[in-house]
Amino acid sequence: MGSLGFLFLVLLPLSFPQLFFQQSSVLLVRGDAKLIQRTCKSTKHYDLCLSSLRSNSSSLKVDTKGLATIIIGIGMANATDTYSYLSSQLLSNTNDTALKTVLKGCADKYSYANDALQGALQQLALDSYDYAYVQVSAAVDYPNVCHNAFKRYPGLTYPPELALREQALESVCDVASGIIDLLGR
Ligand SMILES: *[C@@H]1O[C@H](CO)[C@@H](O)[C@H](O)[C@H]1NC(C)=O
Ligand SMILES: *[C@@H]1O[C@H](CO)[C@@H](O)[C@H](O)[C@H]1NC(C)=O
Ligand SMILES: *[C@@H]1O[C@H](CO)[C@@H](O)[C@H](O)[C@H]1NC(C)=O
Repeated sequence: MGSLGFLFLVLLPLSFPQLFFQQSSVLLVRGDAKLIQRTCKSTKHYDLCLSSLRSNSSSLKVDTKGLATIIIGIGMANATDTYSYLSSQLLSNTNDTALKTVLKGCADKYSYANDALQGALQQLALDSYDYAYVQVSAAVDYPNVCHNAFKRYPGLTYPPELALREQALESVCDVASGIIDLLGR
């Protein structure tokens, strides 16, 4: 091969990298997108599962256990965000003592939900799928305990924003439970 030909072979991929790498990455994406679809089909909320996993590009590179880890991480972000939301509500509603009590209790519950999901991650890492499942189930219960606390005070209405957040965390946890089920409890 002449040195010009050699130069051409070296420079071509540099000039058109998409030409050389596109095909293999498409194959890679397809294979892993299939795992994501197959995994999500066995959960209660297929669309939420898909959109959640697609929001993290690592999903394309991991196995089923990795997918469970990613979903649990999303649940933790949800719980933490709602904890912050409740803490800020607490600061801006300082006069109503009943509301204050309930908001404080609810903030604690979302913090416990986060702890439970953290525990689930640790169990997953140890391949203790039973215990991971139990921790996720605990995380699902906490938002509901918060909801019930509002019911105990007839003067208080459950904020629609909190209802949405409860629903979101419960759905994400349901998806996590469905994936952990697949890992063979
Ligand atoms: C994606 O998931 C991994 C594993 O849970 C996590 O470490 C990472 O922070 C996530 N990335 C984003 C952008 O959330
Ligand atoms: C709390 O009470 C104080 C004094 O009664 C009043 O000035 C203030 O506007 C109230 N704040 C809220 C958020 O209701
Ligand atoms: C909480 O979960 C919902 C999906 O149910 C998602 O749309 C939302 O962005 C999440 N919030 C955070 C802070 O992760």
